[in-house]
Amino acid sequence: MSRIAYVNGRYFIHQAAAIHIEDRGYQFADGIYEVFGVYKGKLIGTRGHLDRLAYSLSELSIKNPMSERAIMHIVREIIRRNRIYNGLVYLQITRGIAPRDHAFPNQASPILVVTGKSTKVSSDEELRSGISVITIPDIRWGRVDIKSISLLPNVLGKQLAKETGAYEAWMIDKNGFITEGTSTNAWIVTEEGELVTRSATNGILNGITRLAVMDVAKEAGIRIVERPFTLKEAKKAREAFITASTTHVKPVTKIDGNSIGNGHIGIITLQLLDGFLKFIEKGTDSKNLHPRCRETKKIRHE
Ligand SMILES: Cc1ncc(COP(=O)(O)O)c(C=O)c1O
Repeated sequence: MSRIAYVNGRYFIHQAAAIHIEDRGYQFADGIYEVFGVYKGKLIGTRGHLDRLAYSLSELSIKNPMSERAIMHIVREIIRRNRIYNGLVYLQITRGIAPRDHAFPNQASPILVVTGKSTKVSSDEELRSGISVITIPDIRWGRVDIKSISLLPNVLGKQLAKETGAYEAWMIDKNGFITEGTSTNAWIVTEEGELVTRSATNGILNGITRLAVMDVAKEAGIRIVERPFTLKEAKKAREAFITASTTHVKPVTKIDGNSIGNGHIGIITLQLLDGFLKFIEKGTDSKNLHPRCRETKKIRHE
């Protein structure tokens, strides 16, 4: 069966789908994206993704090309046409096509692309198996709370992780604190049993999985502290894990070659993984929502 992609109003065979060479996404990375996870036939965290999409567009003054209802129709159509039971839907909106000039064009209309990809359902053993992370300096720009398609530092970090046999690279800011992974949020459980993740400022992407896992943790009575943590603290942590829409809750059992805990998934990570899978199987949205536009109270600048 051929893969099908949506490009600005039409569905194409994936290989035939194309974008104009003066699309500002292609020339300036002037655009944003979202990745919706699909888990056993269910679309995960729709409300959160739509809210973050609205947030990213509004921060970059890009007009949303269509209503949420119309966007969701295309997302579901991509799932249907590609027969996705498990996998993801990738959605990208760029500022549009215009003669190359840095300033915003007067006339461009935003371009929407939606693609889908199937992945196999992971076994319990695969879901619970630990991964290694390496650490690298965070060399990204100061607005990584926007889900921009400008991802070169993330690409270089992930490549280095791959070349060194790791799954992910955690980035470290200029003050020695871990920000997040190249495509995941970073968490630890300290020696005192506190669940720690960096607060959602302009220094991290506020993951939709992160928000849902916070709900799961609260319901389970686990104490969450949103604060930065250092590499030293992470290496001494009882447990560590990453979260993302397609990764769910994934135990980290090695950081820069140092074993974390006993080298297997920790008790709290397991509780959060099981809780998160139940949560997405129910198909509900997280209570913990992403802001739709900048609210100084919610997005703190560092
Ligand atoms: C840099 C970064 N942080 C965190 C995440 C996790 O976000 P989410 O849980 O919404 O997938 C992603 C996902 O792509 C990401 O690219």
